[in-house]
Amino acid sequence: MDKILVLDFGGQYDQLIARRVREQHIYAEIVPFDQIGLDEIVGKNYKGIIFTGGPDSVYKEDAPGFDEGILNLGIPVLGICYGAQLMAFLAKGKVEKATVGEYGKIIFSHEESALFEDVPSQSVCWMSHVDYISEAPEGFTVTAWSEHCPCAAFENRDRKLYGVQFHPEVVHTEYGKTILSSFLLNICKAQVDWKMDDFIESSVSRYREMLPEERVLLALSGGVDSSVAALLLNKAIGHRLVCVFVDHGLLRKGEADHIEKTFKERFDLNLIRVDARDRFLEKLKGVREPEEKRKIIGSEFIRVFEEEAKKLGEISYLAQGTIYPDVIESGKGKSAVIKSHHNVGGLPERMAFRKIIEPLRDLFKDEVREVGRKLGLPEDLVSRQPFPGPGLAVRIIGEITEEKIALLQEADAIFREEIMKAEIEKPQQYFAVLTDMHSVGVMGDERTYGYVLALRSVSTDDFMTAEWSRLPYDLLETVSNRITNEVRGISRVVYDITSKPPGTIEWE
Ligand code: XMP
Repeated sequence: MDKILVLDFGGQYDQLIARRVREQHIYAEIVPFDQIGLDEIVGKNYKGIIFTGGPDSVYKEDAPGFDEGILNLGIPVLGICYGAQLMAFLAKGKVEKATVGEYGKIIFSHEESALFEDVPSQSVCWMSHVDYISEAPEGFTVTAWSEHCPCAAFENRDRKLYGVQFHPEVVHTEYGKTILSSFLLNICKAQVDWKMDDFIESSVSRYREMLPEERVLLALSGGVDSSVAALLLNKAIGHRLVCVFVDHGLLRKGEADHIEKTFKERFDLNLIRVDARDRFLEKLKGVREPEEKRKIIGSEFIRVFEEEAKKLGEISYLAQGTIYPDVIESGKGKSAVIKSHHNVGGLPERMAFRKIIEPLRDLFKDEVREVGRKLGLPEDLVSRQPFPGPGLAVRIIGEITEEKIALLQEADAIFREEIMKAEIEKPQQYFAVLTDMHSVGVMGDERTYGYVLALRSVSTDDFMTAEWSRLPYDLLETVSNRITNEVRGISRVVYDITSKPPGTIEWE
């Protein structure tokens, strides 16, 4: 399989670049610039290299750089933004700070180049830079420009070195896909052979070979990643994969039963459902503070899981649904903390297993979903919206009680049902939150005094920022009517119109 190296200089779009390559069915891997050397690059037989953008100025002393020998390996290189400036810098061109930076959609013009085949002579690209290449290195020619940027692209055709100041990977660059495709197919001559079917087949045979008789333990949450990991391993080793599903009682309405039924009946998974609802409720009694709730749920989860594992006897492998963005993030040393609450925190460290298996560690989320579909995972689980590990506990403000969980489950189910029915573009995340506040209402001739329920719905690309959804009033009205009529105990429904930032998506 041909591979493209995405050499990461700290740009904000590094993952996007790798995804764009993979969308063309060519395998790409991201490696931080300081974690790979020339020898390894040669040894790994990359068909092409892409230098990503980055926040620095190449001429600064401690700016991320690379051995200039990388330009002499004969492997085609495409430098993007900072990556282009770095290429110019390494090849002894000149990079300077411009008086006017360029940001946003800019029209660029180009002349004939292998990179711009099938790109009109003028089109829109996405720029985001202050530094610019003021002098292309010797032997290079400038092939594109914009109003404020004399060198929007440059190249040395013989050495197969190409640089673009703009970002072909973002959708705002009209012909970005065409440009990347020209680099990958015409310049790198990479084989189009990264396919999910092959991935499934090769993973299955690899694990069959690697685990001829061993048992593997997996914590199944019902989320996409652990579900797909489970199905893949199930295909490889069948009942020697033991899945433990801890039911903490804080899932959405009917979800625990649905997960159990799907995996047991449809896929014949060796699944153990642990009913730990009372244990969790007991531990959470009287707890109001969100972080404390999270901690209690995290550690109780591990305790239950460990107890269950002990009952199963010696199992030397633990499988996890780690995916590629998790691997990259922890490589950067950034998000270990975030992951600890996003995943079933701390399991591998706590459990004295000999080996961890991560069958999805090379895949992006959309690729995981594709594998899930190919393995027959039902669409509602494949495109399941993100759901926090601590579940409804962080959507019930204040103390958690059985009654409050039931109220929230009912209201949330109605909201989700109506959104599914509505002919609207579906928001990325939508759910109900049970506030800790009561409010007066009337029902017939009776005065009621029930909870205030909040509806939350957001659209987002990455869950780091989010816009509150402009849901149609009629839809909100239907939801509000149904909830106040059908869920005894809720007397008022409000809609959250806070974007992120300043709000977070969850209320706690
Ligand atoms: P916030 O609330 O930080 O959420 O804007 C961003 C995304 O992360 C999810 N989230 C969590 N996921 N454990 C998780 O596994 C948590 O404690 C947690 N808190 C928030 C949230 O649902 C959203 O998708």
